[in-house]
Amino acid sequence: MLFSSVSVLVLLCAAQFSGTMTLKTFQDEDPDTGLPVVCDRCAPGSYLRAPCTSKEKSDCAPCPSGSFTELWNHIDKCLRCGVCGHNQVVKTQCSAQQDCECECRQGYYFKKKFDHCVRHSDCPSGHGVLSTGTAEQDTVCQVCPSGSYSDQVSAQQSCTAHSNCSALGQRLVLKGSAWHDSVCATCEGNTTHDGADYLREILPAFFVHQKMTLKRLRRLANKLPSKDGENPNENVARLHRGELNALVDAWVGAAATEQLRQLPAKLRKIGAGSAAEKLENKLRRIESVLTEPCAAVEAE
Ligand SMILES: *[C@@H]1O[C@H](CO)[C@@H](O)[C@H](O)[C@H]1NC(C)=O
Ligand SMILES: *[C@@H]1O[C@H](CO)[C@@H](O)[C@H](O)[C@H]1NC(C)=O
Repeated sequence: MLFSSVSVLVLLCAAQFSGTMTLKTFQDEDPDTGLPVVCDRCAPGSYLRAPCTSKEKSDCAPCPSGSFTELWNHIDKCLRCGVCGHNQVVKTQCSAQQDCECECRQGYYFKKKFDHCVRHSDCPSGHGVLSTGTAEQDTVCQVCPSGSYSDQVSAQQSCTAHSNCSALGQRLVLKGSAWHDSVCATCEGNTTHDGADYLREILPAFFVHQKMTLKRLRRLANKLPSKDGENPNENVARLHRGELNALVDAWVGAAATEQLRQLPAKLRKIGAGSAAEKLENKLRRIESVLTEPCAAVEAE
């Protein structure tokens, strides 16, 4: 156990040292005469096989493998080495003079309040990792500062700077937010792209950010038609969140522009009215940019 052996040692410590830190003897009674004798204690790594008598010194023996003593002692048996707890790994092996030390395994940290190892927290979408978790400390997240975003729920991903459309020779169609990147569009050639096609780029991030209930996500997945018009999503009841998101993302990638336009209506049908409104706002913003001549926007 991580700390349980500490309390044993504290007891031992109090019993043995009674105020003096380097007490190497103890009072005993000679078994033959009944008179008091002063015996040597046993060194760390050993235990007292037999106390001294008026004729013989204390008989100390080394701790058998799997046990230890950390202090000068007169106990008749070494202490049993600890065992690392749930989600812990051995940091230092047990030796004759020291119990093993444990630490939380990769991806976990020690939470004092619960007295066990807890998985590192994920930073939600719109928040990035400021410092990754250690065996002692949880992940530290930050709200993505202006000009950056994170579109993942992750214990690893930090905030990433928005794409710089003008640096790419493109125009900004939708300004980035904390949870999605900027959407850029080229001005060359056909500018007759539908706004919904640009909306497509932020939809995977949108569904991560919405944190829909599992039930609602299932209803959505169930309502998404496949390319051939059949409903392939009859088994959604058994899918977990990651699989549902992947399913929705695959649909988003393959959907026709017209199907994307119908997405807000679908969201309303499953009771996600505010999500629908959010999408419509994004689409409106994209479309207002697209109606402007490309060159004029780029020249700003
Ligand atoms: C974007 O790129 C342009 C041109 O390369 C540069 O002038 C501008 O500072 C950049 N903006 C940001 C926010 O990095
Ligand atoms: C623009 O798109 C139309 C059809 O949508 C096509 O006929 C035309 O060649 C395209 N023009 C350019 C410059 O790509």
